[in-house]
Amino acid sequence: MANYDVIIIGSGPGGYVCAIRCAQLGLKVACVEGRETLGGTCLNVGCIPSKALLHASHMLHEAEHNFAAMGLMGKSPSVDWKQMLSYKQSTIEQNTKGIEFLFKKNKIDWLKGWGSIPEAGKVKVGDEVHSAKKIIIASGSEPASLPGVEVDEKVVVTSTGALELGKIPKKLVVIGAGVIGLELGSVYARLGSEVTVVEFLDAITPGMDAEVQKTFQRILKKQGLGFIMGAAVQKTEATKSKAKVTYKLRKDDSEHTLDADVVLLATGRKPYADGLGLDALGVAMTKRGQIAVNATWETNVPGIYAIGDAIEGPMLAHKAEDEGMAAAEQVAGRHGHVNYGVIPGVIYTHPEVANVGLTEQALKEEGRAYKVGKFSFMGNGRAKANFAGDGFVKILADKETDRILGAHIIGPAAGDLIHEICVAMEFGASAEDLAMTCHAHPTYSEAVREAALACGDGAIHM
Ligand code: FAD
Ligand code: NAI
Repeated sequence: MANYDVIIIGSGPGGYVCAIRCAQLGLKVACVEGRETLGGTCLNVGCIPSKALLHASHMLHEAEHNFAAMGLMGKSPSVDWKQMLSYKQSTIEQNTKGIEFLFKKNKIDWLKGWGSIPEAGKVKVGDEVHSAKKIIIASGSEPASLPGVEVDEKVVVTSTGALELGKIPKKLVVIGAGVIGLELGSVYARLGSEVTVVEFLDAITPGMDAEVQKTFQRILKKQGLGFIMGAAVQKTEATKSKAKVTYKLRKDDSEHTLDADVVLLATGRKPYADGLGLDALGVAMTKRGQIAVNATWETNVPGIYAIGDAIEGPMLAHKAEDEGMAAAEQVAGRHGHVNYGVIPGVIYTHPEVANVGLTEQALKEEGRAYKVGKFSFMGNGRAKANFAGDGFVKILADKETDRILGAHIIGPAAGDLIHEICVAMEFGASAEDLAMTCHAHPTYSEAVREAALACGDGAIHM
């Protein structure tokens, strides 16, 4: 039994960042983690492993599709799946060990095991009960289930199983055209699987800018992904090595089936708070099963806070990290702040897709007068040289004040380009501010400047 200023439950991007910031602010900190390694969903079975596989499979795609055009001749590489998985695993290990190192450096105790909160101010791990002035729950999320779909993580898998399949499937059926379905669907399509995505709605990636959705789907189709839209999956039936997926088309209620070697269930994630004892403590939850918090991330039970995927808001690692830092400031008696209006979202396919702020649809619903500045990567010299001319930058600005309200990018390095717009928005910049800023040539970021110019007198290269 030990006494701490703060105990954080969960070591994902929310929890570990919060622990480090608490330690930096002079607090005595422990972090409870039940997994074998630190880093949560993100480092172990989420962001990091998926990006390793996206990177490796993209390299293969480049070799197969673009090398010869640049005069790089010869046989394209063949895939050693075991080696690709071990590259992915070593990437995970480098990152999770890195967090362990940061914990030691910041004198944060890792309490190994699954934690619960028997009463405010106490955290139980195994047989030990520790005390803490403040407790921060960062217990994350888990894949949502779908009635009729039984996951075995071998033939019918969630993202976790999809990151370590025994072999590359000949036929992969993905349920859900959201972020996970399209990222992991892209990986296997590049590795040679026949990928069919079954989506309930009529557009992919719900909530995203409609033009981006259309362009994105067109590009993915060109890359070989098949789509069945407006289709509600009813059930899956699996043997040891095959599965059948039954879906109903919403337009006429007709029933159809698809055969698959592997089915990836990617219809969203739900907050995870099992075993913490929140019911007995009387911690209030939202209608959607998230831990309810106030503007300073405190629950209705004084001294107990919650952050990350376990509370409301986008389920993103950087949103969890920002809340982790802000909650640390709060428990250290300072002021923590997260600007929820400027949280970027990125899909790491090729091309990448990125967005921040409001969509045109949201502006229309608000009845707000806005202008659009759009620039195609076809007009960007660097993108053309790199076979990356597909896509565009779209900036939305207030019609009267020119203040940037949102941005939507599909194209090369979109996930990096979005951040200059995030910074601009944080500073309340106008599109003209961005347009007047010198951008180095030849860079992809010139497309951002051109879109900003297009909000005013016009882009130069269009
Ligand atoms: P988590 O990362 O889920 O961590 C929670 C941790 O708490 C877990 O390790 C769990 O074991 C531990 N825990 C829970 N309860 C207890 C307990 N009682 N005792 C002890 N330990 C406990 N987001 C992005 O921003 N970018 C991406 O590219 C991205 N890619 C993703 C790819 C995939 C395949 C998936 C599944 C998710 C991805 N995400 C991505 C989402 C991202 O992983 C999450 O938003 C992020 O991990 C949330 O962080 P968190 O700290 O709230 O929770
Ligand atoms: P999602 O919410 O992004 O997409 C789920 C999709 O499934 C939606 O398009 C939905 O309409 C569809 N769907 C729901 N029920 C269905 C049914 N019965 N039949 C067919 N389709 C159905 O969820 P996803 O992809 O599982 O990702 C979960 C979370 O993980 C996301 O919130 C995301 O923020 C996070 N994540 C983030 C990444 C990133 O930032 N690059 C990468 C991967 C995950």
